[in-house]
Amino acid sequence: MSYLEKPIFITLGNRKGGVGKTTSVINLASYLAEVGKKILIIDTDPQANCSSILLRHSEDLTGRSLIDALEDSSGATLLSAIVCDTYHPRIHIIPNTTRCMLWERKIAQHSDAVMGIKRLVERDKALNNYDFIFFDTPPNLGVMMNNALMASDYVIIPIPPSDQFALDGLAAYLNLIGSIRKHNNTLQLLAVLITKYDPSWGNSAWNLTQIKKYFSQKGISLFNTHIHSCAEIDMAHVERKPVLESAPKSSGAAEYSALGMELLEIFKVIR
Ligand SMILES: Nc1ncnc2c1ncn2[C@@H]1O[C@H](COP(=O)(O)OP(=O)(O)OP(=O)(O)O)[C@@H](O)[C@H]1O
Ligand SMILES: [Mg+2]
Repeated sequence: MSYLEKPIFITLGNRKGGVGKTTSVINLASYLAEVGKKILIIDTDPQANCSSILLRHSEDLTGRSLIDALEDSSGATLLSAIVCDTYHPRIHIIPNTTRCMLWERKIAQHSDAVMGIKRLVERDKALNNYDFIFFDTPPNLGVMMNNALMASDYVIIPIPPSDQFALDGLAAYLNLIGSIRKHNNTLQLLAVLITKYDPSWGNSAWNLTQIKKYFSQKGISLFNTHIHSCAEIDMAHVERKPVLESAPKSSGAAEYSALGMELLEIFKVIR
């Protein structure tokens, strides 16, 4: 029996690509499942990177992608009925496919284009069996990002401090969170997650002290755990595994485990 009464919905989001959204979803899920939590990942990114890493090759996806549920206007397709298995018995995924791009284009002009996922999760009581539901999101502020935020309780923003464009895009992303909060007042920015951090790289001005000062001046929380740049994290994707599975002794595995622990501690306090 879970200590959480209903799932906690968390979006990993950033307008910028390549910041570690997918990597963080996969590895947080991996740690949390290992300590007994039940996880559902909803892949809202048409690139479907999370799906391609976590799905078992034998899985038949006919009628089982996120878009199948979103396109079913009768409401008969329940997410809980179409979840796919992964390498771990406590991690399920609702996969995405490139068909999502066509759906986004078709739905974009609809006034309730951003409500699809919220409706799917609200009507599906069986989703209460999960402890955490993570949304992996595309690198833009479009329909799917809006859908994920509308259905979420919390947002985590991964940011590699050496990526100036990711920092530049932060204001626009915070604005989007602010505008979604007018319709979904449970949504909160949980914290920024420092990813791909390499103190020896590029802009030496971005040492940890300055990073902390930068975010504290903006009133934005940072996770205590920082994810350093780690070759094993990159390699794990080639093996289509979380780093906790492919290189359990690596610094990447240790840091994502620490992040998972920190997340559980935060929710013990605020939930
Ligand atoms: N800590 C890390 N150390 C080394 N490489 C990393 C780390 N985190 C992520 N990467 C690599 O950076 C690239 C981008 O990561 P990822 O796909 O998780 O980002 P993303 O934000 O989901 O990107 P997109 O917006 O395109 O979906 C990948 O090649 C991944 O292997
Ligand atoms: Mg991604």
